[in-house]
Amino acid sequence: MDVIRVKDYKELSEQAAKFVLERVKKNPKMILGLATGGTPEGMYEQLVTDHRTAGTSYKQVTTFNLDEYAGLPRKDRNSYYSYMREQLFDHIDIPNDQVHLPNGEAEDWQEECLQYEQAIAEAGQVDVQVLGIGGNGHIGFNEPGTSFDSTTHIVTLDESTRKANARYFSNLDEVPTHALTMGIQTIMRAKEIVLLASGESKADAMARLLQGEADESFPASALLSHPNVTVIADEEALKKVTIKEAFA
Ligand code: PGA
Repeated sequence: MDVIRVKDYKELSEQAAKFVLERVKKNPKMILGLATGGTPEGMYEQLVTDHRTAGTSYKQVTTFNLDEYAGLPRKDRNSYYSYMREQLFDHIDIPNDQVHLPNGEAEDWQEECLQYEQAIAEAGQVDVQVLGIGGNGHIGFNEPGTSFDSTTHIVTLDESTRKANARYFSNLDEVPTHALTMGIQTIMRAKEIVLLASGESKADAMARLLQGEADESFPASALLSHPNVTVIADEEALKKVTIKEAFA
């Protein structure tokens, strides 16, 4: 696990965009795994700016998002579908049929999870998976206790996750209770993973991750056994990590 330590959120966004852009340019037909949340917003902004100014094309790129709220209509402004359109897809040249998110409106969520897993497998291996990390160590919506063998599945969201995400809704009651998410095994199958962490609210999670002990009570620790993970984190997120841990 490589750790790139950056000063602040601005630098994190620039480094994350650079990381993705280098790979899109090298492999224009890449399969890109994407994440939502507050953390990657700056990266998406940089990618959109680059597309406008430097013309990097996504015409042949295929994307798979990590997760989606269950039961929230795609057109709801808080769905991850809407988030992705607004943050990225509406501003680049990627064809609609090449972007994928689990369908939270599906009548049969179990079936939708199976189909999503199959769609990823049929596309081939995800080349680069972008990840955020929850304060509780979740990746995607894989909450603490999720099996490292899990594939795409339906989850009950932790109260801490619902509270963290309530900032986007008018009140906590509106935050969905369930979500569809790639499983930990699904995420681990990506060739390369880049995990982004910014701010003090991630400091405990980063300290635990970089301590280096894999345990299902802390989902992100599954990444410790992945051969190609880069963590890009800012000073605030790394403030509880000793130099020895970060650069071991
Ligand atoms: P955030 O969420 O980027 O909004 O902090 C990250 C996550 O929960 O995975």
